[in-house]
Amino acid sequence: VGGRVVCLKETDSTNSVAFRMAEDGAVEGTVVIADTQSAGKGRLGRVWLSPPGVNLYCSVVLRPPISPVAACQLTFLSVVAVARAIERVTTLSPQIKWPNDILVDGKKVAGLLNEMNAETEKVNFVVLGIGVNLNMRLGQLGSTLRHPATSLLEASGQPVQRVGFTRALLEELDVLYDRFLVEGEAPIRAEWLERSAIGGRRVKVSSGDREFRGTVQGVDAFGALLVQPEQGPLETVLSGDVTLLDR
Ligand code: BTN
Repeated sequence: VGGRVVCLKETDSTNSVAFRMAEDGAVEGTVVIADTQSAGKGRLGRVWLSPPGVNLYCSVVLRPPISPVAACQLTFLSVVAVARAIERVTTLSPQIKWPNDILVDGKKVAGLLNEMNAETEKVNFVVLGIGVNLNMRLGQLGSTLRHPATSLLEASGQPVQRVGFTRALLEELDVLYDRFLVEGEAPIRAEWLERSAIGGRRVKVSSGDREFRGTVQGVDAFGALLVQPEQGPLETVLSGDVTLLDR
């Protein structure tokens, strides 16, 4: 990971650039980084705030020899890599929130968006999109957002060096990807669970037009959330949002 790094001043979305480069044959491990994005993509069609000079917006092209169904396991890698990188360069204790948020002090500091190009049986490539709020000042705005947000600077009081953070992140991702190719997702999922902010907690789940409350039992090998509702059988939640009910 990071054998080839493309740095851009401004682009629409590093994910879109990396996707096009991968379609044109970019080698595995190619990384696209931009100083700012004019149309940063978030999950569920949302916009990702991407002001210049302060944060990290990057996308990594991987070509794992796995099935499209297994490709969602790559989310475990980028989430754990970001958490480890935050621990390496700050004194903060990041927590993971399903499916792919990283929180500090209960507020979101990073988001991940994977996009895939696949045939029925095999993955052609996956783009791992990683956005980390490093030195952005959100102030009051941070708490008014739909998902309260912060940056590493706001949470720690210390500015974070962008190049140093990016290097730490790509190194961790490299180590985790090598391990994934040899041992599969199990050890990385175990670390994900350990770091997760929601294991054993009561949550509200919103999935499509459904909403229910229950207790998080864990996450399965494909990244689906296992929730025991107050009544009825265990639910497997493939996509959606969870909110912690008690702090
Ligand atoms: C989320 O909604 O939590 C996911 C946000 C993902 C943002 C990153 S920033 C780099 C990459 N390029 C994009 O357009 N999105 C991802």
